[in-house]
Amino acid sequence: MGVSACQAKGGGGILYFFGVLTKLSYIFRRKKAFTGYLGSVKAGEAHDATLLLASGAGKGSFDDILIDQGSVDDFLSSGQLQPQAFTAAASAVNQTVTYNLREGYDHGYNFVSSFASSHIEFHSKRMKKQVNAIRVDSLPPTDMTGKVIECKAMVARGVKNMSCETIFVSPPKAGEVRVKVVANALCHTDIYTLDGLDPEGLFPAILGHEAGCIVESVGEGVTTVKPGDHVVPGYTPQCNKPDCIFCMSSKTNLCPAIRSTQGQGVMPDGTTRFKDKDGKEIFHFMGCSTMAEYTVLAEISCAKIPKEAPLDKCCLFGCGVSTGLGAVWNTCKVEKGASVAVFGLGAVGLSVVQGAKMAGASRIIAVDVNPKKFEAAIKLGATDCVDSMNGLPEGKTVQQYIAGGLTKWGVDYSFDCTGIVSVMRAALECSHRGWGTSCVIGVAASGHELSTRPFQLVTGRVWKGTAFGGWKTRTDVPKLVDSYMSGELPIDQYITHNFSGVDKTNDAVHALHSGTCLRAVCKYC
Ligand SMILES: NC(=O)c1ccc[n+]([C@@H]2O[C@H](COP(=O)([O-])OP(=O)(O)OC[C@H]3O[C@@H](n4cnc5c(N)ncnc54)[C@H](O)[C@@H]3O)[C@@H](O)[C@H]2O)c1
Ligand SMILES: [Zn+2]
Ligand SMILES: [Zn+2]
Repeated sequence: MGVSACQAKGGGGILYFFGVLTKLSYIFRRKKAFTGYLGSVKAGEAHDATLLLASGAGKGSFDDILIDQGSVDDFLSSGQLQPQAFTAAASAVNQTVTYNLREGYDHGYNFVSSFASSHIEFHSKRMKKQVNAIRVDSLPPTDMTGKVIECKAMVARGVKNMSCETIFVSPPKAGEVRVKVVANALCHTDIYTLDGLDPEGLFPAILGHEAGCIVESVGEGVTTVKPGDHVVPGYTPQCNKPDCIFCMSSKTNLCPAIRSTQGQGVMPDGTTRFKDKDGKEIFHFMGCSTMAEYTVLAEISCAKIPKEAPLDKCCLFGCGVSTGLGAVWNTCKVEKGASVAVFGLGAVGLSVVQGAKMAGASRIIAVDVNPKKFEAAIKLGATDCVDSMNGLPEGKTVQQYIAGGLTKWGVDYSFDCTGIVSVMRAALECSHRGWGTSCVIGVAASGHELSTRPFQLVTGRVWKGTAFGGWKTRTDVPKLVDSYMSGELPIDQYITHNFSGVDKTNDAVHALHSGTCLRAVCKYC
């Protein structure tokens, strides 16, 4: 347990908030309290936070210290509380302190109860970090550098035919990285491929592309990650070469450096790193193949993230959640006060809702055929929910209901998060005459095509699409993880199901089909 708030010195006392337990506030007025509780002022000095800090005690133990102080606290005006003495001592030893002077609050319980939850949140974040650090430290060491690793993986042998097998993973070649996969979340793109809806789907393959991993070994010439580093694999690589016009442009994240081999299910040199127990080759998938205890990635596909970031949460930044947020912030640049409609409330659609709310959208219309999704959407900021299967007024299409019913001219921005082409059309047609922008996020099944009347575009609507929300994997995923770690960007709500072991992946697939699942995460160790 940490102590989150402090003190004062001189004639003053110490105000502690014990954030994690529910005891909230203790006051030690130095003379009275130290003598009363500890026998003497001298004995009390061993517990004086300012003196302790100045003496170097606890150095390096706290990334931040949180203090809340009421501005009309009598103990403050009487000089018994001296937060400035504490902040000065902190600054002298380079200790970060967040000091909040709360206007109009006195020393009463109202003050304590008003800020207790932010203190609990403050501590819980730090405890999570510690728990994760302990778990990471306890991973067994490996000395398999340069050797083939035998491990378990889900091998998709054909449509709807995926099972756990023993596989052999070759060491990384030049420019490659072999990683231990710690957690993998299922995305619908994996399922589409497994269900045979992806025309380019190759079998046998190891699917999976939303993961958190630890680097096991690196191939020749790899400089940006080293063994022990934590990474989120990206299916959109970022080569960062000065002659890559895509990486050098701020307009796109679509680096084509390894596009053709990635699409053919092989590493950039045209071969695979996976073999089954009969020595037959297994294809890679989306440059990731994270439904395996070990996989090999191109260095340019690895986003390095801090070690304290929990891999079983941050795996979500590998695809769906990042995509939804980026569609709002990067692709459409939704502005404050805008109106938004979101079609499909899986993890992608809900992250669009969350991103729109964070961008300050004034109206967020959430559409799904499954009303069970509405509760989560409302929690994240949806202002209206539309059941487009059973909740439309007689004779109205969903686009007519949104443009003409719920709004006069349509919404400023709309997003398809279903992959259904008729829904993409509805999303475009419910966007605002003159300036509405509609963004296709969903991946349609093979052979499906878009249609609308050209007049929809002539009258000012814009149709666009996004891949991975426009994020540049290696530059931007670490920033998203930082926002998550600082508490600005909560994503835990998307993880509705947890499984343990790569062999439980089919249970996760069933969960994903259940209609209540947003993201199912399988932890492999
Ligand atoms: N562009 C990208 O980079 C990118 C990245 C990740 C995912 N995707 C795609 O985004 C889509 C959504 O992914 P997800 O993981 O959230 O999927 P999901 O299956 O969890 O969510 C889809 C939601 O759409 C709803 N839905 C189905 N039919 C509907 C209809 N006619 N009208 C309204 N809602 C309907 C479902 O009930 C469900 O809630 C998928 O197509 C996925 O392949 C694209
Ligand atoms: Zn995905
Ligand atoms: Zn590039």
